[in-house]
Amino acid sequence: MRWRSVHAQSYSAEPRLTVLGTGYLGITHAACMASLGFEVLGVDTDAAKVEKLSAGVTPIYEPELAELVKAQLDSGRLRFTTSYDKAASFGDVHFICTGTPQLPGGGGADLSQVRSCVTALAPLLDRPSLIVGKSTVPVGTARELARYLAGAGSRAELAWNPEFLREGSAVRDTLAPDRIVAGVTSQRGEDVLRQVYEPLLNAGTPFFVTSLETAELAKAAANAFLATKISFINAMAEVCEAAGGNILELSEILGADPRIGGQSLRAGLGFGGGCLPKDIRGFMSRADELGVQSAVGLLGEVDRINLRRRSRTADLALELAGGELTGATVCVLGAAFKPGSDDVRESPALDVAQILHGLGAQVRVYDPVASANAAAARPELQYPSSLDEAAADATVVLLLTEWPEFTALLPDDLAGLVKQKNIVDARNVLTPTAWLAAGWNYRALGIGTGTPGRPASELERSW
Ligand code: UDX
Repeated sequence: MRWRSVHAQSYSAEPRLTVLGTGYLGITHAACMASLGFEVLGVDTDAAKVEKLSAGVTPIYEPELAELVKAQLDSGRLRFTTSYDKAASFGDVHFICTGTPQLPGGGGADLSQVRSCVTALAPLLDRPSLIVGKSTVPVGTARELARYLAGAGSRAELAWNPEFLREGSAVRDTLAPDRIVAGVTSQRGEDVLRQVYEPLLNAGTPFFVTSLETAELAKAAANAFLATKISFINAMAEVCEAAGGNILELSEILGADPRIGGQSLRAGLGFGGGCLPKDIRGFMSRADELGVQSAVGLLGEVDRINLRRRSRTADLALELAGGELTGATVCVLGAAFKPGSDDVRESPALDVAQILHGLGAQVRVYDPVASANAAAARPELQYPSSLDEAAADATVVLLLTEWPEFTALLPDDLAGLVKQKNIVDARNVLTPTAWLAAGWNYRALGIGTGTPGRPASELERSW
């Protein structure tokens, strides 16, 4: 790789990168950029985290990531620090990867971490450099930061390069993205980003050069669309439940139309995680400030449909338990918001577990990797260390996160453990006929009976 920017005189060979914020996004971006051959310095204000990362301990569960971090530390290209001074003297390109959580009590995003990265770094930069935002922010944030840099007489320029990675496939999504979006204010900004992503561009990744605002909106609109698609199919699931349809067949039929496409069309317990829920709320909040609230008003309905799936799932469990859960043992399979992750932020599974706990049940949650995070978030629930312990003496079993070890479950695996053979398959991953044939009362989301609550024997006939 060669450095081709107009500021080539400032750098020896190729840009050195810093990554500010070492959460899901930051650790993945830092390790992946190091694997492309760059020298990378990861920066975080959390000294304990930096110490762990420097010792090769990755604090999150993400397939392939821990191995990649170790390999890049060993190569000497990846290091971590708490020092902004070091970051400023080391880096030519600084990626902002900090979180933008939902503000407590409001739908808007908390931008304090993003802002403090820029205000801490800018005064320390003594040569031309590019600050590149990757965090998800409300449209207009990048322009505000660019103005701040200009007003402070900084030699740093701003660009926005939103990240589209999914948890569970973050490394693959970073090294083989569907597209790269470069929101820039100059040819220099574009050149620098082309230089950084050269190997990916050479592999044919589409590269979109745009304004700061369009780059920010690309992320907001993509997440809004994905959330809408998931809630659309879940709304159809509600209709199926009432009308006697089958959402699995319906979604397959819809997905066969290439204009619709089958991805993000899996009906079930709906979306959670650190992105989709907060991002649609943040988008609505920003649209409101811009006076175009009605343009994204549908996202409020998207959110409501999504949350309704959680109460519907709890209702199915209550119904299977005969309308009373006080004192009953309930087995919840899954705590993570999706399989392949230990992230429990806005987890639909944990929300359902909490509702059942509120109904008086003894809720035992088992998750292959997310139990520790779940216990920190919801200490009032029980977290046995095995699936068998979780299922022991259960009145109802709920499958809420589709980990492979749960989707592979057969009726006989649990039959000898539970008190009553009641199961709610909230991710539509089990084979209903097999469970019904084995004498289980089986309920799923979007598999209609025409009249909610009909007994399993009648349900069976509808398959
Ligand atoms: C999402 C976007 O996909 C990604 O592009 C963006 O950068 C961040 O937000 P992520 O939250 O990691 O990524 O996961 P995703 O695979 O999109 O799933 C989000 C949620 O929707 C999960 O809770 C998942 O279980 C649920 N989901 C997904 C469905 O319920 N049905 C589907 O068909 C797809």
